Amino acid sequence: MSRAWVREAVRLIEADANRSADTHLHVFPLPAEWGIDLYLKDESVHPTGSLKHRLARSLMLYALVNGEIGPDTTLIEASSGSTAVSEAYFARMLGLDFVAVMPRKTSQEKVQLIEFYGGRCHFVDIPSAVYGEAERLAAECGGHYLDQFTYAERATDWRGNNNIAESVFAQMRLERHPVPAWIVVGAGTGGTSATFGRYVRYRRHTTKICVVDPENSSFYGAWQTRTPDYTTGMPSRIEGIGRPRVEPSFVPNVIDEMIEVPDAASMAAIRLLRERTGHWAGGSTGTSLYGAFQLIARMLTAGQTGSVVTLLCDSGERYAHTYYNDTWLAEQGLDIDPPLAVMEEFLLTGRWSTL
Ligand SMILES: Cc1ncc(COP(=O)(O)O)c(C=O)c1O
Repeated sequence: MSRAWVREAVRLIEADANRSADTHLHVFPLPAEWGIDLYLKDESVHPTGSLKHRLARSLMLYALVNGEIGPDTTLIEASSGSTAVSEAYFARMLGLDFVAVMPRKTSQEKVQLIEFYGGRCHFVDIPSAVYGEAERLAAECGGHYLDQFTYAERATDWRGNNNIAESVFAQMRLERHPVPAWIVVGAGTGGTSATFGRYVRYRRHTTKICVVDPENSSFYGAWQTRTPDYTTGMPSRIEGIGRPRVEPSFVPNVIDEMIEVPDAASMAAIRLLRERTGHWAGGSTGTSLYGAFQLIARMLTAGQTGSVVTLLCDSGERYAHTYYNDTWLAEQGLDIDPPLAVMEEFLLTGRWSTL
């Protein structure tokens, strides 16, 4: 690859980061007397609207410094949507063709965003076919398969370099409980939980990592039984998190706890978030919030004070036709009233009653 081209490509990507501000850490209002603070790291404010902006930047830089990308390389990715949106943005920045291989059921809003950034969408009927199809396309056109599910955990520098963990800890510095008791995230590739888990160990913090997992996902079973090839083969309804197979980037040993969250609870939690804070988030934020509430209820029972940090991964705008559409919820058989009642009671009394 031409070193001059790579040098310029790296500069363009670094300049994008340099023009960007850090993402906000919002406070979710809890009763002050609890002595527990809940924060939401708002990743929806990245230029491409999600947490995946960080991943796409890291994957592009990783491929560039590995000499995998040149001025004529077509970039291919297997993605359920948001990663592809961000990668399409960076591909266009570098003047490269980009093809996203994705399940046919991916939301129309995300398809439009990929195309908006000049990417092309290639659909498969069976969600688990995305990997093989991406590999095949890359081989066929001599392109590069970015492969987020394999490289997410190593493309991000876990020691720092303004990764999401370092950013959260810096933003917590002046809070009354600056070192979080818990960080709660979902897993798509597993990269975010790996980054947080490694960072807290490296920085010698006591913070524990909790991964929330939606219905049908393989991660929970794999973590519980320490079976890396645990496979449900089932797609997740919560875009961005939950996988039919355990992805290579999932690092179970740095996860202290996992919580399974019903999809109706994720849907209920994003409605509650909007009502209480005005933030309009995607489904995976609801999964995280529902898990964070459970951990806080447990802290209250144990008489503990402290802080809990979770993520607002993307905006609800992308899911207006699905998660925020009552007809869609009814079609899916998702009743949000029982989990809403559980959360309302929790926020009033601090008690958590199981669904
Ligand atoms: C709530 C939440 N946490 C974490 C992630 C992390 O994804 P990954 O495991 O790919 O880093 C996502 C991805 O959409 C998410 O929505």
